Amino acid sequence: MTSPRNAAPPNPRLRRATLEDVDLLVAHRVAMFREMGGRSRAALARHGPEYLAWLVPRLVSAELVAFVAEDAKGVAMGTGAVWFRPSHPGPGSPARRSPYILSMYTVPAARGRGVATDIVNQVSALSRRLGYGRVGLHASAMGRGVYARMGFLPTTEMQFPLTATERRRMLRSRAAMEARRG
Ligand SMILES: CC(C)(COP(=O)(O)OP(=O)(O)OC[C@H]1O[C@@H](n2cnc3c(N)ncnc32)[C@H](O)[C@@H]1OP(=O)(O)O)[C@@H](O)C(=O)NCCC(=O)NCCS
Repeated sequence: MTSPRNAAPPNPRLRRATLEDVDLLVAHRVAMFREMGGRSRAALARHGPEYLAWLVPRLVSAELVAFVAEDAKGVAMGTGAVWFRPSHPGPGSPARRSPYILSMYTVPAARGRGVATDIVNQVSALSRRLGYGRVGLHASAMGRGVYARMGFLPTTEMQFPLTATERRRMLRSRAAMEARRG
């Protein structure tokens, strides 16, 4: 059966990323922020090396696990990651870490074939196997529908902007969400 959103065959193959994939993971991370908008070119250029330096030790220690979706020829269609980030214990949830999904990016030509959905399902299965009860993320305007369709629920988290620039960024991002929701 073909997808009504993208008629090309839906055949992403998922594999766990290795250190050999870090350039791809960084390129996708920067492309994700570029598409989300609101960041200057200079900030995006600085972010690549900053993210690389943060990413490598976490990939090595498996505090972060990334996935690469490839087509039948081995060309990357998208990437995404889960970071088992340090957290605090709560009543009934003694774990000191919580899985957080980040850096979700599918190349434009491969969108609407379930690449992001597959990656999130894989991350969820891994997190479940490791004993966690939930996974979290911050959704972009483009990602929100994908996650909501999968069953993600909004939380009670609130954020207070500490600078005028951040306030503008948060309001822009909320406006983009609402515009997409129609
Ligand atoms: C958001 C993003 C990662 C989604 O990637 P994707 O691989 O296209 O996502 P999926 O294919 O899993 O889902 C996209 C849509 O296709 C639909 N879809 C998924 N699998 C499908 C399939 N096999 N057949 C038909 N439709 C399918 C989904 O229901 C979804 O519909 P929606 O947009 O109406 O909610 C991608 O658009 C992207 O990289 N955007 C720019 C960066 C960004 O915003 N990243 C997210 C940060 S949180």
